[in-house]
Amino acid sequence: MECQFHRGRRLRRTETLRAMFRETRLTASDLVQPYFVLEHENPEVEKPIGSMPGQYQLGLSALVETVRKAVDTGLQSVLLFGIPKEKDERGSQAYAEEGIVQQAVRELKETFPELVVVTDVCLCEYTSHGHCGLIRNGEVQNDPTLELIARTALSHARSGADIVAPSDMMDGRVAAIRDILDKDGYSHVPIISYAVKYASSFYGPFREAAESTPSFGDRRSYQMDVANAREGLREATADLDEGADALMVKPALPYLDILRDLRERFDCPLAAYQVSGEFSMIKAAAKEGWLDPIATALESLTAIKRAGADLIFSYFTTELLEKELIPL
Ligand code: PBG
Ligand code: ZN
Repeated sequence: MECQFHRGRRLRRTETLRAMFRETRLTASDLVQPYFVLEHENPEVEKPIGSMPGQYQLGLSALVETVRKAVDTGLQSVLLFGIPKEKDERGSQAYAEEGIVQQAVRELKETFPELVVVTDVCLCEYTSHGHCGLIRNGEVQNDPTLELIARTALSHARSGADIVAPSDMMDGRVAAIRDILDKDGYSHVPIISYAVKYASSFYGPFREAAESTPSFGDRRSYQMDVANAREGLREATADLDEGADALMVKPALPYLDILRDLRERFDCPLAAYQVSGEFSMIKAAAKEGWLDPIATALESLTAIKRAGADLIFSYFTTELLEKELIPL
């Protein structure tokens, strides 16, 4: 009698068989491309970001032209970060009507009405000290920051943002944003909360991209301790109670356990942010010829989706779409 061991290879024999039994698939609507929009006298300026090959700080019209090419290849959604000309203690340009993100949202929505524009809501790119909230006696103040975060979100909504995504990690900011949006007639604008955001070294390249390195200290008094998983569930519960429509885990690949925990615990949509360091590590290794960047990017993104993400913020989005590696 023949041995009846498991024959896993039967379903892997050809590409068609593998495709038929594949459990996880990426599509264009899963992916969001982040962009950095630079306030500059030359709106056509494109400044390469050294630590993030292929990513740029873009002037207003450069952004529109870059997005146009991406939309032509199937891009569905963007996340916007702004780099203002002037920074101050209170990050005033974050909530200025003529702020760079506010202008960018208006232009993008006018040019591409179908494109889903998400805005990152935070102060750190706009404050002279580079922290995500107001400073008093060398400490980041929670409650006084809430009003400014809420005003920032409202100014994005008024400019036409489809979704606002607060990343500051102040307690109570989702409630503060929901409240101000509802009172001003924007009850239809969803909030994706960066709910489970760790104080991660993987944000290194971003700080060059967004010019948001703190001038003193670090972000560990507001972003989460990388060692904590259960605390992530508490953050998630709090943000859902405050009215978040979707939750984000950030970074992504080193925190797949957290993503899976949230997937099992909550029924809300989940996002993951494949952050700058995750992107730059792949690009740097590829430059050495040590790995295939496209295959590695696809593998990472598939793993992130497999772990439970409905939506992934990734700097690889436009490159993968351009190469027609993601079905629309
Ligand atoms: C701003 C913000 C950061 C990122 C997204 N929003 C940086 C930080 O918190 O220091 C990180 C994105 C990335 O690394 O790609 N609060
Ligand atoms: Zn910030």
